[in-house]
Amino acid sequence: MNPQDLAKRQAAEAALAYVEPGEVLGVGTGSTVNLFIDLLAEKKLAQDVKGAVSSSNASTERLKKIGIPVLDLNKTGTLSIYVDGADEANKHLQLIKGGGAALTREKIVAAASRKFVCIVDQSKQVDVLGKFPLPIEVIPMAQSYVGRELVRFGTPVLREGVVTDNGNVIIDLHGLNIVDPVKLETEINLITGVVCVGLFARRPADVLIVGTPDGARTLKP
Ligand code: 5RP
Repeated sequence: MNPQDLAKRQAAEAALAYVEPGEVLGVGTGSTVNLFIDLLAEKKLAQDVKGAVSSSNASTERLKKIGIPVLDLNKTGTLSIYVDGADEANKHLQLIKGGGAALTREKIVAAASRKFVCIVDQSKQVDVLGKFPLPIEVIPMAQSYVGRELVRFGTPVLREGVVTDNGNVIIDLHGLNIVDPVKLETEINLITGVVCVGLFARRPADVLIVGTPDGARTLKP
């Protein structure tokens, strides 16, 4: 395993401590979360959870493969724990997410969970968010309009060939230096045709687990 994957695995393994037997677990999307799902099977925790609410079709497939029932968030009510990765995280545990195009469902599950445990390798920690292009999910017919509106913040680039699990497109906003993440999240949310922006500032993570090849450390805001 390369050092970055090892660091992701360390973070994923540390998150197992938050898994509560008999509870429904919120599960995000991405390579770090995939390692977390694999570890649930490896450490025989999959059989202890009541089920999972998944943030993407890809994670749903992986969860089902290890025998975890995937449940409808409308039936489960509030979740106690949501485990997901991120593309960038600052010291306030505000995040950029959506590199895997699953940001809308991820934001829904995070909003419906009491504790959001974010698992990242150390390369994701930043002082200021915005070097990673900010993913924005957009209704297809609004793509050009939203693109024109986004020019006042940065350089919008359509993610070619990507259709989200919700049937929408992704615009990645480049060239940002996000000094006020809550303000930017609010302003982009207000553009008609935007479904969701991958800035998790109004609802940041509650716990950030940062993996290195040698271990993991846990940060709280
Ligand atoms: C998917 C996400 C992921 O959490 C994010 O892209 C991090 O992925 P990875 O764990 O593969 O680095 O937001 O939409």
